[in-house]
Amino acid sequence: MKLTIIGTGYVGLVTGTCFAELGNEVICADNDEGKIKTLNSGGMPIYEPGLSELVENNRRKGRLRFTHDVPQAVNDSDVIFICVGTPPRNDGSADLSAIEKVSKVIALNMKSYKLIVEKSTVPVETGEWVKTTINNYKKNGSDFDVASNPEFLREGSAIADFMNPDRVVIGVDTEKAGNIMRELYEPLRSKIVVTNIKGAEIIKHASNSFLATKISFINAISNICERTGADVAAVAEGIGMDRRISTHFLKAGIGFGGSCFPKDVKAFIHISEKVGYPFGLLKEVEKINEGQKDLFMKKIAGMLWNIAGKHIAVWGLAFKPDTDDIRSAPAIDIAGRLLDEGAVLAVYDPVAMEKSRAELGDRVKYCGDVYETAKDADCVLLMTEWNEFKEVDWLKIKGIMKQPIVIDGRNLYDPVKLKALGFRYAGIGRG
Ligand code: UGA
Repeated sequence: MKLTIIGTGYVGLVTGTCFAELGNEVICADNDEGKIKTLNSGGMPIYEPGLSELVENNRRKGRLRFTHDVPQAVNDSDVIFICVGTPPRNDGSADLSAIEKVSKVIALNMKSYKLIVEKSTVPVETGEWVKTTINNYKKNGSDFDVASNPEFLREGSAIADFMNPDRVVIGVDTEKAGNIMRELYEPLRSKIVVTNIKGAEIIKHASNSFLATKISFINAISNICERTGADVAAVAEGIGMDRRISTHFLKAGIGFGGSCFPKDVKAFIHISEKVGYPFGLLKEVEKINEGQKDLFMKKIAGMLWNIAGKHIAVWGLAFKPDTDDIRSAPAIDIAGRLLDEGAVLAVYDPVAMEKSRAELGDRVKYCGDVYETAKDADCVLLMTEWNEFKEVDWLKIKGIMKQPIVIDGRNLYDPVKLKALGFRYAGIGRG
């Protein structure tokens, strides 16, 4: 099939590239000329394992191309995916102005039938607005359908998630649109859920909100464990073995971050209020998530006494491993708070250093590895559970630190082992 993907951000780039890999002819369009230039010259605007090789391979085979001529890209395909950003506004609602803009461009430039697919995460009823906008602006009698096809890609494993999904969700209001979408996903041989557009839009927000709820649930449990002498990891294992609950997303820590959960939970709360059903449970999910960072700060003060003037090694800045994304990253938030309290920070992340520099500026020392951060440090903070942090030479670390203190925000380390080596250790919910 001929596909146009509008928006070459994280979702658009992964979606377009994977559809090309499945044999479709894909045009990725974006009005950001700089980004298109980067992509056309073999560069990658984001870090995602395996993506640049896949882009290169499909570009070479002529199945994938990049353009900033969005109107022409609309004309050249029958199926158009909208993958533009829907950032949060101050009141928590999603800013849908980019979706409106793209809908207008499609309306003004379509000359034949188009299936317009919402891929960006949007609140329920956005599909209705896309239809209305296209009807209002279209210049001729060209027929069109709208579909909702939310993505469930995790940063760091997005290609595998696309190629081997738990399910594909398709929201359509006509048989024709349903048939096109089914054909497109047929090669994946995945389970497909077909519902109406509003149902698919709600599935996306409900999925992310449910996962965020699981994380806040286990974080709340971790606080009870900590106060009573239980180990949250054992508790999570014990409850997760019940298949109705499952062990996934039951890792306690310093809270969820990233560009999706915080934003989507907020947007779902906003929509629930708008439709007259304030979703109080999700407000509590947000509150627990924020509370994890406050508790972590208290934990640091509990181990270091005064924070001002203390040298702190920060391991990991990305909101999770295998990504350079620092949006709503707990590590960045906590680093900011520590700096405000007068701490001296030495930071290291395997891939998120450049993006962190833009956020933290020259207020911290950027290091080449964990050992450099630990030199003369009063404490190590483990913030992101990167693989390369799993195995470190603890004796070497202890030898170069001022005080042997490790505070583990992701429960990556074995407390018994670290204590045996002479460290003072604190994790999350490890009473
Ligand atoms: C999330 C969803 O998992 C995807 O299905 C969805 O498509 C995506 O949002 C999106 O809406 O675009 P992502 O934000 O990449 O994906 O990251 P996750 O792996 O879900 O992790 C989110 C946050 O939760 C991270 O900060 C992670 O550290 C935290 N987390 C995750 C925990 O604290 N504990 C856990 O057990 C799991």
